[in-house]
Amino acid sequence: MIWNDIKILWHLVQGQRRTGSHAERLEAFYAPQAEYYDSFRERLLQGRKELIEALALPPGAYVVELGGGTGRNALYFGEKLSQLNAIEIVDLCPALLKQAQNNLKDYSNALIIEADATTYRPKQLVDCVYFSYALTMIPDWHQAMQNAVAMLKPGGTLGVVDFYVSPVKAAPDAVQHAVFTRSFWPRWFGYDGVHLNPEHLPTLKKLCPKYKCFERYSVVPYLLGLKVPYYIFVGKKK
Ligand SMILES: C[S@@+](CC[C@H](N)C(=O)[O-])C[C@H]1O[C@@H](n2cnc3c(N)ncnc32)[C@H](O)[C@@H]1O
Repeated sequence: MIWNDIKILWHLVQGQRRTGSHAERLEAFYAPQAEYYDSFRERLLQGRKELIEALALPPGAYVVELGGGTGRNALYFGEKLSQLNAIEIVDLCPALLKQAQNNLKDYSNALIIEADATTYRPKQLVDCVYFSYALTMIPDWHQAMQNAVAMLKPGGTLGVVDFYVSPVKAAPDAVQHAVFTRSFWPRWFGYDGVHLNPEHLPTLKKLCPKYKCFERYSVVPYLLGLKVPYYIFVGKKK
């Protein structure tokens, strides 16, 4: 595992390429680490299992994960996964989708789709759309959120788990982050094309005014106890 971690860390310190289209940059960043992606992200990307559980979906639900990568999150549904009507894993990065094909090969209801989260539309309105650590990597995150809401049935569920930082002055019901947190983490992750944004959570709350939200901190592997803020959001479309 240590050797795989070293390879992943090597790609992370190299950062994301600054040239080419968004899809090309993602492929160049992820292709060399796709095989080891799941084991490292298991420790880095906290709250994903909790998000899937908090979605509380009934059997027969039609689900879309936007920016679904390797499809690992679908496996958090456990035995409920095979009871879903369908789950679509949508991503722009072929190298990660190849892993998804493999991770979900035993599920005939899992569809692996190469497409842009800001424009993709399933053939029908769906019961649930979720993003897991994807909004921070989507340049037009606002359009991606709006697209997600547009593909939901009325009363459908929008789920998000992601890193974030609070605005300079957080809303009274939200966590306020210190100056160090608000300046260090966006710089740290920005190097790898991950953009922690104080606007994400307030925008989700406006889009889905009926919601549950949990604001947390997680340790980052090899960063000596430093903790990065993340949130879990589950909202309902009006
Ligand atoms: C940090 S990874 C998270 C992957 C997965 N959701 C997880 O929890 O492991 C971010 C993902 O967003 C995808 N992504 C970034 N921009 C995208 C876009 N515009 N459309 C679709 N996927 C996108 C990347 O290819 C990558 O798979």
